Amino acid sequence: MIHVDPAMTDEEFLRLFEKGIKAQWGTDQIDWGLVEGISDDKKQALGQLITPVYLGEQTAMLGISQVLPMILTGGHAEPALYLSSMGLDEARHFRNLNHLYRVLNVEPLPSRRLPEMWRYHARLLQKHDPVQWVFGILISDLFAKTFYGGFADRFPDTVVGRLSRRTLQDEARHQAFSDRYLNRMLPTMDEDARQELLVLRDDLFRIMERLGERLRGPMETLDWSPESFLSELWDDTERWVKRLGIVPLAQ
Ligand SMILES: [Fe+2]
Ligand SMILES: [Fe+2]
Repeated sequence: MIHVDPAMTDEEFLRLFEKGIKAQWGTDQIDWGLVEGISDDKKQALGQLITPVYLGEQTAMLGISQVLPMILTGGHAEPALYLSSMGLDEARHFRNLNHLYRVLNVEPLPSRRLPEMWRYHARLLQKHDPVQWVFGILISDLFAKTFYGGFADRFPDTVVGRLSRRTLQDEARHQAFSDRYLNRMLPTMDEDARQELLVLRDDLFRIMERLGERLRGPMETLDWSPESFLSELWDDTERWVKRLGIVPLAQ
């Protein structure tokens, strides 16, 4: 239940919240005119590759709005405070990509061409447990990070690269939140619930493999491949799983 006057003693979350509010920024801090040097082919490919990220930013907004009441009514005011600032970050990312499509003058893929993203979304929505949610949000943040990192490397001095680098700073804070929250909660969970997290990871990766196949064409236009994307994301996720101490049971 919600407390009228909670003690707010968890310094780690409070520090992260302060960092989150101080690091806010708006669309006016990006030079939207930096589109020279991006060929029309690459713009079209970007339009398609940004689509899952664009939808992912909305999934992130939805995820936070689902998990926030669970955490706040569970009596954990400090992480709930942080999540509120994270919601604003995701809203900004969504807004920025919306603007980027207009600046590049390209269209996102129509949703029927990306059924995997709806499957991904639906898989996350099955969860009613805040830990499962935060773990799903962590994988989604790593997914966004891999895309934004790839865009930043390929288009360093353009609006795409600059926006990606700025967004990655927000995503790093989100990972710091998931790290702290999951580290607190995992020791309180039984083994079955911990293994459930790995089932969620595997389901999401199966969906992402099919998504990668679908995006092979535009990825190749940007000298990228679904294989390298997925192996980078998998290695990143595995580092987190190990760091969090989630050990798969021997089959
Ligand atoms: Fe985001
Ligand atoms: Fe995020």
